[in-house]
Amino acid sequence: MAIRNILTVPDPLLNKKCREVEVFDERLWTLLDDLKDTVKAANGAGLAAPQVAVLKRVCVIDTEDGFFELINPVLKSSSGEQTGLEGCLSVPKRYGNVTRPMKITVLAKDRFGEEVKFKVKGFTARAFLHEMDHLDGVIYTQKATNFVEEK
Ligand code: NI
Repeated sequence: MAIRNILTVPDPLLNKKCREVEVFDERLWTLLDDLKDTVKAANGAGLAAPQVAVLKRVCVIDTEDGFFELINPVLKSSSGEQTGLEGCLSVPKRYGNVTRPMKITVLAKDRFGEEVKFKVKGFTARAFLHEMDHLDGVIYTQKATNFVEEK
């Protein structure tokens, strides 16, 4: 387990579409363990593989609702709406308001390749969608309004 370096904008790797995971091996598990160490060390709500320069559809979420590992996640359904401040470990000292669904259902694979389904809401749903956007090379700043800069 190790803490990896987090890329920041405008690193071009952050705008790449990531590839699906096909092999659920120890290399993947090391990536997941390192993402966990790195997001906890950085005190973030989530971290996606492209943020540590790995262009695979892998991300982790760390909120009050728990710690989640998502591999090849797909949004199956969503409802409601929420608007709130969002930040990103790849965009230091900046926050912006983003409108997202309030409740979502996501299908993904776990680290062993088994299908898993998550039904989450509120801030955790926001974190899921923020990290899933990273897998398509989308940074929240492309969706945000009313930016706040941290002094
Ligand atoms: Ni982010």
